[in-house]
Amino acid sequence: MREFTYRSRDGDVKVLININHGEALERITKDYTGCAAYVSRNIVNRVKIACPVIPIVDGEEGKSIETALSIVRSAHEMGIDRDGLFIGIGGGSVLDVVGFSASIYLRGVDYVNVPTTMLSMVDASIGGKTGVNALGLKNVIGVIRQPRYVIIDLSFLDSLPMPNYIDGFAEVIKYGVTMDRELLDLVMGSADRLLNRDYAILEEVIHRSLRDKANVVEVDELDRGGSRAVLNYGHTVGHAIEAVTSFSISHGKAVALGMVCEARVGVRLGYTPKDVPDLLIRALSMFNLTSRVSVDVDRLVNAMLRDKKRSGDFIRLPVVTDVGRWDLVRVRVKDLADLVISECRSML
Ligand SMILES: NC(=O)c1ccc[n+]([C@@H]2O[C@H](COP(=O)([O-])OP(=O)(O)OC[C@H]3O[C@@H](n4cnc5c(N)ncnc54)[C@H](O)[C@@H]3O)[C@@H](O)[C@H]2O)c1
Repeated sequence: MREFTYRSRDGDVKVLININHGEALERITKDYTGCAAYVSRNIVNRVKIACPVIPIVDGEEGKSIETALSIVRSAHEMGIDRDGLFIGIGGGSVLDVVGFSASIYLRGVDYVNVPTTMLSMVDASIGGKTGVNALGLKNVIGVIRQPRYVIIDLSFLDSLPMPNYIDGFAEVIKYGVTMDRELLDLVMGSADRLLNRDYAILEEVIHRSLRDKANVVEVDELDRGGSRAVLNYGHTVGHAIEAVTSFSISHGKAVALGMVCEARVGVRLGYTPKDVPDLLIRALSMFNLTSRVSVDVDRLVNAMLRDKKRSGDFIRLPVVTDVGRWDLVRVRVKDLADLVISECRSML
């Protein structure tokens, strides 16, 4: 078991890795007047805790204002007061909507994240970005508000289908290539053990990934154009790939292709060393994250131009400046579009 604490506007957040969720929650809930656990309905039978368990629909359709309202209604009916606790147990979609509901219920009650997918263990469970989809737009309603605890119980990974499991490694490789060379080396040197879901190496990789993310969240919690931008590496192109494929390609594979493309763009811009795109391809292919997708590059560029990080004629792009180092550069949108067309057409 490993643990660490990161600081936030809302107080300290305690992260516990490789721990039985039932035992951890038994200790935590003692400090609250009441609790309610909102759990992905697909894993509800795996949850063993003393709080009332309310199954919720997960995936993007469950991440809605209607789900948030039903969570608020059930908490009210159970008499949860301002010193009560919400617990979200599930993948990123569940954590996002439960964290959002906790943030608006009675103007904010504490909440705990118990992630059950690889992506949510290394990414969605910390950082405090909560929210729901609405008006056909992803994450268009939400707030940044941190959980009190993050509890990583690795046994949830046992039932995760392989495609979902490997998807989370795109974000791990992102942390490695941008901020943490040792993490990248560790992941590449232990790919077989990771693919076999060996708990000892998973504990180390998840701990390092969460520490790396927490470090940037601590200095730019509200995502005001500083350090937190690094978490978007590969996502400018990755989100555009998801949009033009109508989300038929997984998030991990879209981000993987996005990172390789953005690394090539970084080389052309003169910031990224020439060997980084191939290094990324080697790392990502160990987790089967580099399959080609058939995408019309012109549509892709159009989707990219609508990126929310765009400001006028410019877009702020995180670039790798060496393995484990990064910088934020301002690129003319038109130049970025031309570079993506010339550098990435062959891989799409
Ligand atoms: N808040 C953040 O910082 C942040 C960061 C990254 C992603 N996200 C959000 O996370 C969501 C994606 O998260 P996700 O990839 O975890 O997907 P998800 O929550 O949609 O879950 C994917 C599927 O896995 C199933 N599942 C969950 N745990 C399981 C388990 N242990 N065994 C078997 N099946 C299980 C779910 O029922 C679901 O069908 C998106 O909505 C994205 O916007 C948020």
